[in-house]
Order: sequence, then C-alpha cells, then structure tokens
Amino acid sequence: MNFADSEVVASVLSSQYQLVTSPSEADLILVNTCSVRDNAEQRVFNRLNELTALKKKNKHLQIGLIGCMASRFKDDLFAKTDIDLIAGPDAYRNLPQIIDSENAVNIDVTLSKTETYEDILPIRYADNKVSAFVSVMRGCNNFCAYCVVPYTRGRERSRASESIIAETEQLFQTGYREVTLLGQNVNSYNYQNIDFAELMEKVAKIDPLLRVRFATSHPKDLSPKLLQIMAKYPNICKSIHLPAQSGSTAILQRMNRKYTRENYLEKISLIRQYLPQCGLSTDLIAGFCTETETDHLQTLSLMKEVAYDYAFTFKYSPREGTFAYQNIKDDVPEDVKIKRLQQIIDLQQNLSLKSNQKDVGKIFEVLTEGYSKRSKDFLFGRTSTNKVVVFPALNHKIGEYVVLKITNCSAATLFGEESAF
Ligand code: 5AD
Ligand code: SF4
Repeated sequence: MNFADSEVVASVLSSQYQLVTSPSEADLILVNTCSVRDNAEQRVFNRLNELTALKKKNKHLQIGLIGCMASRFKDDLFAKTDIDLIAGPDAYRNLPQIIDSENAVNIDVTLSKTETYEDILPIRYADNKVSAFVSVMRGCNNFCAYCVVPYTRGRERSRASESIIAETEQLFQTGYREVTLLGQNVNSYNYQNIDFAELMEKVAKIDPLLRVRFATSHPKDLSPKLLQIMAKYPNICKSIHLPAQSGSTAILQRMNRKYTRENYLEKISLIRQYLPQCGLSTDLIAGFCTETETDHLQTLSLMKEVAYDYAFTFKYSPREGTFAYQNIKDDVPEDVKIKRLQQIIDLQQNLSLKSNQKDVGKIFEVLTEGYSKRSKDFLFGRTSTNKVVVFPALNHKIGEYVVLKITNCSAATLFGEESAF
C-alpha cells in the first residue's frame, strides 16, 4: 500500500520536482512510513537519523515524514527528529503547500472519509515495468484488536470503478501485463453498487493477456461470487492471500477477527471447491495477549491443515491506542513469543518446500518479470499461483509469457525449463 502511495506522491510533486536516484542528490526526501509493528517504526527513526545528517552538506535539503507514523505521532515528531514537514496518508494532495517553506503550516495529518486519489495517475518509478499496483480502496473499518491501521488510515472508502479501469487500461497499453488491485480489505469494495467481484470481472475483461491479482481479503468477507468470477477468467490469478492471524478460536475472538477456526476452514474448502489449484498464503501473529501453548499448537495445526504455500509471520507488537493495548494484558513473555514465531517459521519452511516439490514435473505459464539476481543467463517470473520460477533466459524477454516445465525446487523458488503445453 505504501509502495502504491509513494507513486501517487511522486505524481503530485512531478510538476515541481524531478526524481533522483540517491538521497545525496535530493533537495527533498520523503520517508513513507508504516506503523503496524514497533520494529518498522524503529527502522524509520534510524533511517531519519542517517538522512537528517545529509542536511550538513545540503543546506536546502528538506526532509518529510509521510504515512502512518504521521497519523500516530503528529507534531511530536518535530521534537523527536530534525524533520521539516509531516503529511498523513490522506494529505498527499496538499504536499506542495506543506513543502513550501514560506508557508507556516508544515503539517497535515487530517484523515478523510472520501479521499481515494482516484484522479491522480501514479508515476511508476520502480524498475518493474510488467506488474503494477492499482489502489481500489483505502482505510479499514474492521478494528482488529491488535491493529493500528483503522486509526492511522481512517475509514473505508472505495475508488470509482471508471478510474480503476482507465488506469488499468493505460497500464496495459504501456506494456504492463499484471495488476494487483490493492486495499486493506478489498472485499469491502463497493462503489455505486459495484462490488469487488464485479470490479474484478471488469478488470479481467480489459484483455486476456493482462493478469489480475488482489490483496488483501478479510476471511469474513470472501464470497462465493468472487470465487466464481476467479474461476471463470483464466487471467485472474489463482492465488489468494487470506490472513488467518491465529488458528485458535479463543484468540481469534480476542483479536476481534469475527470468524472462528471452523469458519476460516470453511472458506478454505470453498476456495478448494471453486479453484482446486489455487495458491494460498496467510499472515500469522505469534504470542498475541493471553495466547497459551494450546492456542499456539492450534495455529501450527491450522497451518498443516491448510498447507499454505507461503506465510508472512509476525511477533505480536502492542500498539498504543488499539483495543488490545488498552484492555488486554500483553502477557506472553518475549522469549516465548520468539520461540513460537520460530516454530511457525520452521513449519512454514517445510510446508513451502513440500508445496514446491508437488509442482516438480508440472507445466506452468509464467509471466517474466526480470533477470535472476544471480545471473543474467536466467530470467524469473511468476505462476498464476504466485510462485517464483527461475529459468534459462535464452531469447525470452521481460513481460513475455513462457510455458515452463518445473524441473527442481527449493522452499522459496521453482526452477523450470521451456516446454510445450
Ligand atoms: N503486531 C504484530 N503483527 C501485526 N499485524 C498487524 N498489527 C500487528 C501487531 N500489532 C500483522 C497482521 C496483518 C499484517 C499486515 O501485519 O498479521 O495481517
Ligand atoms: Fe488491521 Fe484488521 Fe483492518 Fe487488516 S482487517 S488492516 S489487520 S484492522
């Protein structure tokens, strides 16, 4: 989400500023920040220390902090660090005024009920010219007990479908072959009675050569209608990121996730029913308040039962202002959190390897994204199920679809060779 937001910010500032490639060349540096866990914030403070040191060499240098930390710390940040301006996630349109050093007001952290930046065409400055993020909704109304996002990004609002389609069409025309529709909870998308499944269908119809992905869905809202649409269009990627957070119903209730372990598993069987080959990934939090060893074992057993292809795993990090911070004791000792997280990571490593081993011998269509980090003789791309495949480059190009037979794998990567379908 921050990656996509930074592309909006680049666009807002494009008439006054030119992008440069290193901080030492810049007259303005904006640090786009995440507040979801404490270590993300600590990294930002360290980075700001490094960057503000550059002011000694460049007297014109202005440094700004934007994103979720702006919402959380507001003007306290001026006392904590040597920054010049602060803009929250809904204030990017005002950045030119906030940056203007003649202007006395150098902070805007107001949250909006309507801002979607839908009329701003993001500047795609990443090296990847094949796959782009397209933001479809902002904010979150779910108030999971541990999560700061509803406070830092405000309420849910959906972007006009016409502007999503127009942006995606333009991406396709300029050579992009994949879009990921983005939102904190895409299944809540609703714009003039167009729901997320209908939006996906409209985007999928733009061109069969355009792959469509989405992130992230809340399990409570994943609908059979969306799964039907996913099954109907070959260019909608068969991959779902469905954050479980925990495998224990008691913990899920305390997290205010609004589903039980059983409800979650029902959603997984629904996915398997409509999309038998669908890739599945998840987010898991280890050591949430009151989590017992039995709760933790339930998370491990859920992981095995679902057999995720991939998992993003986190140690619970108390966030000021959230329901859990104020009302539930952070009672799992740090060493226990670390031990449980490691067990989750080790298990996932195993599950990912097994999942990849099952793909050896199979044939996949891969969209080529770039050269392998290790050698220019190899390209890499992704399967529809969101697995990375490395294969001999030969005369293939980035942005091309290649049909590959999987010959080998590690837990993180598949290795393939060209094959006939
Ligand atoms: N502590 C640890 N992990 C968190 N996440 C969100 N808030 C916290 C927190 N306080 C994780 C969740 C979410 C992902 C984006 O970050 O797993 O899905
Ligand atoms: Fe945070 Fe829950 Fe909203 Fe995701 S759904 S952003 S975890 S409050």
